[in-house]
Order: sequence, then structure tokens, then C-alpha cells
Amino acid sequence: MRAMIRMAGMMLLAAATVATAQRIEQDFNGGWRFAVGAQAGAEAPGFNDAAWTEVRVPHDWAIAGPFDPALDGNTGMLPWRGEGWYRKRFALPADAAGRRVILIFDGVMASPKVHVNGAEAGGWTYGYNSFWLDVTAHAKPGAENVVAVHADTREHGSRWYPGAGIYRKVALRIVDPVHVPVWGLWVTTPKVGDRAATVRVRTEIANAGAADAAVEVETTLLDPTGAVAATRRDPVSAKAGATALCDVSIEVADPKRWDVDAPCLYRAVVRVHRGGTAVDEAATTFGIRTFEWTANDGFHLNGRRLQLHGVNQHHDQGPLGAACLPRAAERQLEILRDMGVNALRTSHNPPAPEVLDLCDRMGIVVWDELYDKYGKTAGVPCSTAEYVEKHAEKEVRNFVRRDRNHPCVVIWSIGNEIPDILGDADGRAGEHVARMVAFFRANDDTRPTAIGCHMPGGAAKGKTILDALDATGWNYQAKYRVAKERYPDKPVIYSESASAFSTRGGYKLPLAKSKTDWGDDGVLNAYELTAASWADIPEHEFEYMKTDRYVAGEFVWTGFDYLGEPTPVGGKGWAHPARARSSYFGILDLAGMPKDRFFLYRSHWNGKAATVHLAPHWTWEGREGQPLPVMVYTSGDEAELFLNGHSLGRRAKRSAEAMKAANLAFGRTAKASSEEIKQDAGGNVQAENLAGKACDGNPGTRWCAADGTLPQTWQVDLGRAAPLGAMRIDWEADAAGYRFGVEVSRDGAAWSAADGDATAKSTGWRSQIDLRGVEARFVRVTITATPKKTWAGFRDVEIRAPGDAGADENPYYAVLDAYRLRWAAVPYEPGELKVVAYRGGAKIGEAVQRTAGAPAALRLAADRPAIRADGDDLGYVQIDAVDAKGTPCPHAAPVVTFRVEGPAALAGVDNGDPLGMDSFTDDRHPLFNGRAVAVLRSRAGAAGTVRLVASAPGMPEATVTLECR
Ligand code: GAL
Repeated sequence: MRAMIRMAGMMLLAAATVATAQRIEQDFNGGWRFAVGAQAGAEAPGFNDAAWTEVRVPHDWAIAGPFDPALDGNTGMLPWRGEGWYRKRFALPADAAGRRVILIFDGVMASPKVHVNGAEAGGWTYGYNSFWLDVTAHAKPGAENVVAVHADTREHGSRWYPGAGIYRKVALRIVDPVHVPVWGLWVTTPKVGDRAATVRVRTEIANAGAADAAVEVETTLLDPTGAVAATRRDPVSAKAGATALCDVSIEVADPKRWDVDAPCLYRAVVRVHRGGTAVDEAATTFGIRTFEWTANDGFHLNGRRLQLHGVNQHHDQGPLGAACLPRAAERQLEILRDMGVNALRTSHNPPAPEVLDLCDRMGIVVWDELYDKYGKTAGVPCSTAEYVEKHAEKEVRNFVRRDRNHPCVVIWSIGNEIPDILGDADGRAGEHVARMVAFFRANDDTRPTAIGCHMPGGAAKGKTILDALDATGWNYQAKYRVAKERYPDKPVIYSESASAFSTRGGYKLPLAKSKTDWGDDGVLNAYELTAASWADIPEHEFEYMKTDRYVAGEFVWTGFDYLGEPTPVGGKGWAHPARARSSYFGILDLAGMPKDRFFLYRSHWNGKAATVHLAPHWTWEGREGQPLPVMVYTSGDEAELFLNGHSLGRRAKRSAEAMKAANLAFGRTAKASSEEIKQDAGGNVQAENLAGKACDGNPGTRWCAADGTLPQTWQVDLGRAAPLGAMRIDWEADAAGYRFGVEVSRDGAAWSAADGDATAKSTGWRSQIDLRGVEARFVRVTITATPKKTWAGFRDVEIRAPGDAGADENPYYAVLDAYRLRWAAVPYEPGELKVVAYRGGAKIGEAVQRTAGAPAALRLAADRPAIRADGDDLGYVQIDAVDAKGTPCPHAAPVVTFRVEGPAALAGVDNGDPLGMDSFTDDRHPLFNGRAVAVLRSRAGAAGTVRLVASAPGMPEATVTLECR
């Protein structure tokens, strides 16, 4: 009997809850109409939009193109600049009367103005930020309403393709006048232990009614299994026209940590009760974890050091443009996770909220960034001072309030490479930075605030620009070392590394002789040897990350190729007619197909699964008997290569020790004309930048002259006279600023010039000196000029024996042997090239490349057998041209025609060729280097079997089927 009464009570409670928790939240994405260009009177409810296109948002009006080579390649050669209108009719229930009607936009590019029933209800400027509007004053409950949104990108500045229109989702929310406002629920975990954690839940209660309200706030925490972990009720008095705060701390026993390998998620559900009925309910997921950015030991998550294997990602989704469909982002993150990624930098703007939901779920830590510079790129053409003073605060507020419950977010960034901040253009940079940091702190005091820097001068002695920041991020060439020295107690992060280039499948001979040896045909060599002049190939970054353990880790520029910024093609000094629309930086191409670099990173980063990858393809008709370089990317330490069954030998990676031993200067005695010894006021030695530090095998330490006096000399004794090869000097700053000469001697008494003026042509911070033909025991460098405000000094010096790095090879590439296995010249013979890889003597796997015959068929492969019939889910289908035996044809480029049968649409096709000018949204698309990817989008509420049919001249039709459920 007692049990029955209890059950009845529970049912009553459940029923009451459903009936009275009155918040209505509606997906507002369907049923829009769209027109590009100015549309006079389009805000009026009666406007005739019958001729407009029906669209479902997220929508990007510019992605259908056409590409226009006359437009700027840096922003994708797509027609995104302009204005457009969206209109939607919708019914509001009669009982919305007396309640608040709110529209939430996750992102509109750009400067949206929102009209409800003809009246301007509000707007926003920055296209990457989320915003919401209370449109109650203009809404008509119990009637049809019309919302019209004007988007305008004409004032928006960008260094990549921004997209255009309502490119993220929209929601309609109807709430009681007494309610939890948008982003008004904030969960933090001030104390986390193994036995218990304290969860602090701060709930804002907005009272938009006319009378004060006494409410009860019920806060419930659900554990990762969905079971109630804790619950409590607290009285709150909500004054009319004001926002009250319910701030409670709750103990959770035996907390399950959120971590990269086990991203356990809790949920906080808050109900607002008034007079015994629940009038509103808000909820958020959160995680229980600790993290710390340390100055000397990188990033710690839950008490242990986590080396960040990060990538930068822009927001576009290749052929889908800026339109954010969560599955597109999920697929990208799945691919990156498999590569070993555990960190993401949302370069250089707030991501779609779904991206952070995915990172929460997948265990990826996030550097959440607000801007790429201020002013025009933020939609307001004005100075940094004006931007920071007048506009930034509200942007920071929305950004941080929206994202602060995500356990994945572990650091905020006020922006990227802001030249007038780092160059202190108005003499007030430190003040602007401090204001930005204060805006962030006002909305979240649990995470550090950082910046992405590119000008080391910003951290120079005497400058106070970066003082207010908790941490600093540095882009390229280990520039973080300057900040580490200037601010020894501030954590540093490698916010951009690599910026390497390649075209998927675009193997070219001869190989690059230097990192900027690109050729001029717009194909960047798939052998993975080139990078931007200000940056490096991945292996150099791996070395920095190995030695500089105080750095939290690297964020590679970039995970996927993106639309726009096709550096170096078509850029400054580019004479060739080739013009590109998308980047070459990606580890994967624009369609998400891996370049060989993917396997290089995977071999180094994915500690769990073995990687064995062989390049290039083995279809080289006409090159029979000629030598081809072969690269193996493997997590093994050794591999054996076979051509048509004959062994071409077994090779081993060189260990770091072997690489050091190959440096004739390593550990040798060095002396200098002067050395810097830093002392504090009390005469205690703080740092000794002695001559030997330049050849101690650690580029994190250095030799530095005692002051700015010139000339200065540095000299090393190699122990015995020996034939010399290449010499490398890593400087303190841009190599172009140093003037120097190199002399050699057999006895330390008689010197001869080896290179009288070896002054570097700018290759970042590195100089390469050719000492081939010289036999000597002593090597001396005399520095006669240095960059402004920099004393003479070396990070690292390396001198190699001749032939050690290959007779003709640039010593820049010696490092490759620690990370990939190379066979310099395999005489081409059609057939089968195979590699078998080993680790610690045990076989870990093999890979094969076979010579293909003529293309005979198309092969279609879907990434998943079934997708959701919700109108947003996507199926990705890879199309390969194959020969009669099924071997992929690496040169095939047939134009493929697509047909979709069943309840889905072709959302986009791309082949990853940065030079491609074929529309992404046509039903015809060429393959590039044998491949392309087609994307199918389900229809809302339409289940069934979908067939993608592909055909190309001279090949039978090929199909793949997908279930929409
Ligand atoms: C960085 C910049 C990025 C991108 C990259 C290309 O300096 O922050 O947005 O332009 O260079 O290497």
C-alpha cells in the first residue's frame, strides 16, 4: 500500500512537470525563402516573396558560385560579397501571449538586421558571433508572423572565404516572463578531487514581468549515465524588470573526469518553480576536470602532462561552404582524431556551437578564439582603439557566455596576429590588451586568456603589450622562445606551426631543393617538402616540440584545406597564370581526402594504431628504368621495401641521438668574444648564455653576446681536422637581419675565409652555409650586424660531415630521417611496390602501391551505411577511378555525372584540387588525381533507400546505396 502511494505521487509529479515546465524551444531552420541582392520592402509582412528560393538554413548563398577567377583567390573567388534577404512565415501559439518570444541566431554573415512583422527587432554586426533577440514587442501570438533577415557582407573584411547568409542554425524560444535567460546558466567546478567534486551552478533568473516574483530554483545534476547525482531547491526573489542570481555549490561524490580518452559528461538541469508550478527549465552539459597551463611543463589535464597535438581549422566545410551542418564537422573531427589530434584551435573566430558539443563528446581540448584582428574583419571598419573601446565588450560577452560551460574549452584567445597590437601602432597596445582580458575575465574567471602572436618584437624587453595576458600563443619558427625568455612565468603555446604545402596526389620531380622550391604550375609537390617562407615542414616542428617541453604543444596550420588563402599560388611575386581558390596548407584536402602528410602526423601522433603508408603511387608510364624517390610514413622504426618481390633493403629511422652525433659541433668546446650572464639585483645569476649553449643539442638554450657591441665572434673546436659539409645556424631573430662571415682553421692560428659574407637570404630564423670542400678543425663566425634591438647570438649551430645529408641535399631535410624512411632512387618498373614495417623488430603492417592500367570503372564508397532522415544529416561518398582489376588510377580525371534516387539531395561535390573552378553544386564534376567526394544531404522526415548513381564516358554506371532513417 505504501509503495502504491509513493508511485502515484511520483506519477503526479512527472505529469505536472511535463505540463508546466513551459519553455518551448523550436528548431527554426526550415521554411525560409531567400533572395540575393537588395530587395526593396522585403521586411514588410505582405511582401511577395513567391519568386524567392526555398531554403533550409544553415545556408550559404555564395557557395554555389560560380567561381570567378577575377575575384580574390584569398577569399575563395566566390561571390560572397553583397547583401541577401531571408524571410520566414511562422505561427505563434495563442498561449505565447504574456510570455517572451526570443530568436537565437548562432551566426549570420554578416551584419544581420532582423525584422519581425515589419518592425526592426534588432541585429548584430560580427558575422561569427551568436546573438539573440527578445522580439516579444513585435510578435503576434495566435497568428501568422513574418520574420525577415537582411544579411550584408559588404563591409566585412576577410583573409579567407567567410561565406554569406544565415550559415548557422536558428532557434525560436518561448518562455515565461520569469525565466533563465539565454546563456544564463553557468556551471564551474571550483574543487575537483578523486572522491568528490564541488560543482557551482549559477543560474540567472530574469523577471520581465511587472511584479516581483518569489521563485524556487531546483538544481539537479545528472551523472554521465543520466542518473541523478545531486539535487537541491533554493528560494530566490526575482525583482520585476531585473535579473536575480541563484548561486549554489553542490558536492558530487566519486566524480567521473572529463578527459581526452574518456570524455565523461554531466548535465545540469535547472527548473524554476513559481507558486508550486515549474515555469521554466534550462539545462547544460558540463564536465568535471582540472587543467593547468604551466610555464615550464606545458599543459596538464587532470594532473598529468598532455602534449597537445592540435590543428587549426577555419569554419568552412569545403564544398558545403560556411553552412554548418554538424555531421560535416563531426566527420572532420573523426578523421583528425584518428590522426592523433587531441586539440583544436578555432582559427580565428567563434565556431558553431555544435563544434564545441562535438569536442566535448570526443575529448578534444579547444583554444577558443574570437578574432582575426579587429576593425574590418570584425565587421566594423575602425581603428583597434575604437573597436576595443566601443564594440568588443558585447562580442566577448556573447562569446564567453555561450561557450563557458564546455569542458573542452580550456583557453580563450582575444585574437590572432593583430599587427597594430604587436607593433604597438598607437602606443596604447598594452592598454587595449588589458581591456580585452578584463572583458573575458568579467564573464569567466576559470580559464586563461591568450593571444596568437606573429611579431616577436611584441614581447621585446621593455614592451608591456602582453603583460595582461595569462598565456601567449606564437605562430611559427619557435618564436615562443622570445616570450618564454621575456616572461619566464607565462605559459607559451605554439598556436600555429608548419604551414606546409601540398596538393594531394601531385607528385613532381625533381624533388624540392629548398622549402620554398615550389615550381610555378600551381601543383605543390605531394612529396611533402615545402612550406611557407615564414614556416617549416612538419619534421622541424616535431623537433621543436621534442626539445621545448615547456611548450604545451603545437596547433598545425591547418587540419583541412579551406576555401581561400591559396598561398603561394597567385600571391606576391607569382608570375605564372595558375590561380587557385583554396589552400594548400591542409593535412587533408578540401574534400577531406588525406594527403601523405596525414600519415606523417598519424605515425607520430596516434600512439594507439599502427601507421604504414607508402608514397608515391606506382603508375609512372614513360619513366621505366628512371629513378623515383620513395617515402614511407610509419609508426615503425624500420621498414623493408620490395619492388616486384625483390628487396630494396631495410632502413631504420635515425634516432635523435644519431642525429645529434651527426652534428660535428655537438658537445664540442666553444668560445665567444663575449657571453651574456644575467644577474638579478642581488647579484644572483639568472641565466648564463654561454658559447657552448649553441652546440648543446638543445635549441631551447642559446649563446648571446654580453651586449650590443659589434663585431662579435663565436668559435667551435671540432676536436680534429675533418672534411666538412653543411653548416646551419639558428638565430635569435629573422636571419635576414644578420651580417656575418665564416672562417675555418686547421690549427686555430691560421684562418681562411670559408664564406666571407654568408649573410642569409631570409629563410626564417635559419642560415645554411655550404662548407663542402673544406677540411678544418676550427670554425669561427664573425657577426658584423644584427637586427634592430637584437644582440649577436645563436640558438643552435650544426655542422655536418659532407655527404651526410646526401651529396646534394639541403641540410634542411636531414631531419626527415628521424620521422620518415626514404629510398632516394628506386628505378621505376611497373608492378607492385610493397613495404613491410617493423617496430622493435616485430612486424606492424605493410602497404602496397600497384601500377594501374587504363581507367575502366568508378568505385563508390560511402562513409556510413545509414544516415538520419532529418534534413541535416550527410552521407559522404568517395569516388575512385579504378582499372579492370580494381587498382586506383592516380592520374584519372574523367568528368563524372551524378544522379540521386530516393529521399536525399546532392549537397556538394569536390575533388580537392585547389585550382579547380568547377562548381561544387553541379551534378557534374571531374575527378582529380583519380578521386572526388560527393556529399548527400537527407530530407527532413523522408525515410527510405537512397542511391547515388555515378557515370563517366566509357565506364559503366556505378552506384552506392544509403539508408535514410
Ligand atoms: C598565419 C595566420 C594564419 C594564416 C597562416 C598561413 O600567420 O595566422 O591565419 O594566414 O599564417 O601560413
